[in-house]
Amino acid sequence: MSRVYNFSAGPAALPEEVLKQAAAEMLDYNGSGMSINEMSHRSKAFDQVIQTAEQDIRDLMNIPDNYKVLFLQGGASQQFAAVPMNLMQNKKAAYIVTGQWAKKALAEAKKYGDAVEVASSADKTFSYIPDCSDLAIPEDADYVYICENNTIYGTKFKKLPNTKGHILVSDVSSCFLSEPVNVNDYGVIYGGVQKNVGPAGLVISIIREDLIRDDVPDYVPTMLKWKTQADNGSLYNTPNCWAIYMCGLVFKWLKAQGGLEEMKRRNEEKAAILYDFLDNSKMFKGTVRPEDRSLMNVPFITDSEELNAKFISEATANGLVSLKGHRTVGGMRASIYNAMPKEGVQKLVDFMESFEKANQ
Ligand SMILES: Cc1ncc(COP(=O)(O)O)c(C=O)c1O
Repeated sequence: MSRVYNFSAGPAALPEEVLKQAAAEMLDYNGSGMSINEMSHRSKAFDQVIQTAEQDIRDLMNIPDNYKVLFLQGGASQQFAAVPMNLMQNKKAAYIVTGQWAKKALAEAKKYGDAVEVASSADKTFSYIPDCSDLAIPEDADYVYICENNTIYGTKFKKLPNTKGHILVSDVSSCFLSEPVNVNDYGVIYGGVQKNVGPAGLVISIIREDLIRDDVPDYVPTMLKWKTQADNGSLYNTPNCWAIYMCGLVFKWLKAQGGLEEMKRRNEEKAAILYDFLDNSKMFKGTVRPEDRSLMNVPFITDSEELNAKFISEATANGLVSLKGHRTVGGMRASIYNAMPKEGVQKLVDFMESFEKANQ
């Protein structure tokens, strides 16, 4: 068996210990004589899986009791619609557009009400986070929306926007569980899990209870109404049992590593290795304004398309894979989520150094 260092933006690397445990339990989960994939979602064994997963993410993120944790299907993109459907009482919302994902969320919200862009960093190819200290947020806006870590462009909100008293909705797909957050600062936090937490197809939404309401418009599909899911403990229909189980294993792994404080320390350490190299290289350059740099997604370029392609190809041959930048941006991107060990980042930097020397 030969494992590579996988810098994919998502689906992304998972902790090896977790994959091994899942493999060991594949044929016989906890003495049940069957795989978790073959088991009723109403069984005692699965009930324990989902309850334990919920408790563990509550512990990790210190989620207050007045927030619900929902394990939902349809990925993060499904929440682009669910958010306005469930929250637009006044049919008004304010969006801060810092990349493709926020742009898509805004376009989706416009189908359901008056969603307005109150800030954007499109003028500089989303390479920075705009000043959000005094935005023109409509008074009657139902919420302010951000994508907290921009997977494609490699920026991250280091400070949450001043919402002027409105509730904050945050897509944390690519920074989920990468550092501690204060859940009370948000009305809704949600993330597709396929980057930092588990297999694709599952989205975890953490929603303040008073925002889960019955009086949503009639057109809202039963499945997309948060109340349906909250009332049924995320088991209104058959959930993505496998993904919930895998997330549960990752939560246990995170706890065993020392929780989110420790993840933050490791993620800062890993990112510094890469950014320090980029800041000193003559060939490779980071593309993001330094103060807005993500700890998770690190885009970089050389000044030649040819060199980029050569680098990606030689890196792949050296077991450093999925380094191609997003198709809309080009260049390279290294995603260094929780499961990427420091050695992987060090190996990448060593390789970049030798590539630079060989191609001067
Ligand atoms: C920040 C962010 N939001 C949303 C999505 C979409 O997630 P999904 O594919 O689960 O719908 C992605 C990436 O896939 C993302 O990086």
